[in-house]
Amino acid sequence: MIQLIAHRGRSSVAPENTAAAFEAALAAGFAWIETDVDLLEDGVPVLLHDDALERTTDGAGRVETVASPALRERDAGSWFSADFAGERVPLLSDLTGLMARTGLSANLELKLSHPTAERVERYLEAVAGEVEELAAAPRDDGEGAGVVVSSFDHGLLAAFRERSERTRLAPLFRPGEFAAGWRRAVQDIGASRVHPHHGDLGPRTVEELHDAGLDVAAWTVNDPARARQLADWGVEGVCTDGPAGMTPADWDRGDSPSE
Ligand code: G3P
Ligand code: MG
Repeated sequence: MIQLIAHRGRSSVAPENTAAAFEAALAAGFAWIETDVDLLEDGVPVLLHDDALERTTDGAGRVETVASPALRERDAGSWFSADFAGERVPLLSDLTGLMARTGLSANLELKLSHPTAERVERYLEAVAGEVEELAAAPRDDGEGAGVVVSSFDHGLLAAFRERSERTRLAPLFRPGEFAAGWRRAVQDIGASRVHPHHGDLGPRTVEELHDAGLDVAAWTVNDPARARQLADWGVEGVCTDGPAGMTPADWDRGDSPSE
């Protein structure tokens, strides 16, 4: 069964990158979510896609200028629907807490805005620290939450590798950039997995990637027919916003897909 990964949580039914979206993913049977990790002014990793607050909160300003106490005041749900008024922007530590409690696994996308040398250093140290802490925390049932760290910034992934030897890393590729870029990126990063845009995949490419010992997770697929085609080619995972027809519950009558 292909691994279905809820993109920014189940972002088709709840505001992206919020606890509500992560819980909606769990409720629909997703074992994995994807989320974007940036860094606040006070050095705290935060889950936000954009480099500024305007689109997905009632606040304003660039992420690197906002500290965590001020961020906690912002509403990250009303822009999506009044039903989600009062949702907060989660910190990475909120998500790792949920993961430790529920066994939810996460694809953390490194998306650092305003990457000065100082911010890169603080960011890598903080994110790698939280990932390592999660990996070291066994749950009561002995099942640990899984983590994959991805990024379009392959240099940042290579630097993350220096701080975390065992974490699974996956370079992301924008549409059209996969064919020319994947071999070099995999080598430089020590990646075990690649995250191309789904439009860059075909059956021969998937075979070539498997021959190279790599897993493949494609983004972002909301059409069940396309997802089934990718699954038939042997693609291991797809990132999806989770509309009707694209949840594990839809696919498997309630059985979550597993790696
Ligand atoms: O990981 C796939 C996808 O999240 C990459 O694009 O812009 O949604 O972060 P974006
Ligand atoms: Mg992302």
